[in-house]
Amino acid sequence: MSADAFLWGGATASYQCEGAWNEDGKGLGEWDVFSHGNPLNINGATGDVSCDFYHHFREDIDMMASGSQNTFRFSISWSRILPEGTGKVNEKGIDFYNSVIDYCLEKGLEPNVTLFHYDLPNAIAEKGGFANRETIDDFVAYARVCFEAFGDRVKLWATINEPRYYAYCSNMVGNYPPNHSLDFDRYFKVCYHEAVASAKAVALYHSMGLTGQIGIVIDSCNVETSPETREPELIKLKADLFYDQLVLDTSIRGELPGALVPFLRENDIDTSYIKFEDMLTFQRGKIDFLGLNVYNRMYLTDYSEGETEVFHNNRGAWSKKKEGIRIKDWFETTDDPNTKRNLWGREIYPKCMYNALMEIRGRYGDIPVYITENGHGCYETPGPDGRVEDDDRIDMMQGYIDNMIKAMDDGCNVKGYYAWSPMDLYSWVNGYEKRYGLVYVDFDDPARPRTPKKSYYWYKQLIEDYRHDRESQ
Ligand code: NOJ
Repeated sequence: MSADAFLWGGATASYQCEGAWNEDGKGLGEWDVFSHGNPLNINGATGDVSCDFYHHFREDIDMMASGSQNTFRFSISWSRILPEGTGKVNEKGIDFYNSVIDYCLEKGLEPNVTLFHYDLPNAIAEKGGFANRETIDDFVAYARVCFEAFGDRVKLWATINEPRYYAYCSNMVGNYPPNHSLDFDRYFKVCYHEAVASAKAVALYHSMGLTGQIGIVIDSCNVETSPETREPELIKLKADLFYDQLVLDTSIRGELPGALVPFLRENDIDTSYIKFEDMLTFQRGKIDFLGLNVYNRMYLTDYSEGETEVFHNNRGAWSKKKEGIRIKDWFETTDDPNTKRNLWGREIYPKCMYNALMEIRGRYGDIPVYITENGHGCYETPGPDGRVEDDDRIDMMQGYIDNMIKAMDDGCNVKGYYAWSPMDLYSWVNGYEKRYGLVYVDFDDPARPRTPKKSYYWYKQLIEDYRHDRESQ
């Protein structure tokens, strides 16, 4: 593989695919506790086994390599490495990730490793998780263990996956542990502490003399206002602060967005946790690349009336709810009649890929970007021949990839693309019904057999065509 070859691969997360929730010394995670009996786990599914990547990783990596992919993004389970969140290291956890990394390299896949993807060790969650400032140093100590163990072979690292969306679901929607609803104080505090933790881990990585690169992964919240909006600029200003600017400005520019503190104060939102010394941490912890998970945009208009409310659909086809939010006196989401939605009420809007990339370039310049996730969640059953003909996924992903390539042609510095997900896996509160994989997993069969879907072959061809057309000269 040439050093500057575009990376094409798939992305997973530890809790969503590994299974083996209590094997080989792994400690309890917050999702183990939540999924085992919390009534808010409305579909009743757990990640106890999932697609059992822990025991099937060679098969999955073989499948990725045969699909012409040259990279694999996965996350490390903090509680598999440090069962109590801090202190004693679980050597069997280290062995597992060494095996995954070594097998990736043997098969020609560049490992892209995320340190934290929604799954706090329960011991840390019980102390308040990222709402507690102590978690910052616990995270950095955990990052050090990972950098020391795997940093000789892993050249692409991400500190935190979707810090904003994690904070949103845990503190605004209330569908992720610890299930706080509409708690603006806690939402911003968790985002802020995650930003500080990420910057400290980046600074640590850069100080260790390792030869790779480190970034953060955000959920792209590209904001658009509808044409009838009376105050589009003001809404954009507020929405960018609410959605993504805290994480983007701290990680790319190394500074807190200037408008953030006045905005929070004017709205009586707690700012007491913001410390002057953190400004230096942000300066020292600037990322090398940005990971962007691209699924949808935030389509907004002026606040109309009523109390603040979050709209969320974890019941899929059983519910008619559309994903969105109304924040009193700020803004609300609105419906674009020309845009399709998936059965969980989320917009499918391929152009947000182009818009998000161009906006990042416009605001932050030439920072290298990886599209760390993009994909389509559907209900799926194999046909009589055992195949899944997932034409909707193919159409949808093709649209997003076309927009990514258009943005690259217009000057955006995109280095790679990861399909979410290489195989079917656990979709958090949506359980197993919402499938994203390019490879079908039979969750009813204890052997968890895998069968490639039509999209798997489409993706392989797309990668080969891209290499032939763009990289063979
Ligand atoms: C983003 C998250 O990183 C991942 O965990 C999730 O399952 C996918 N989006 C699909 O919703």
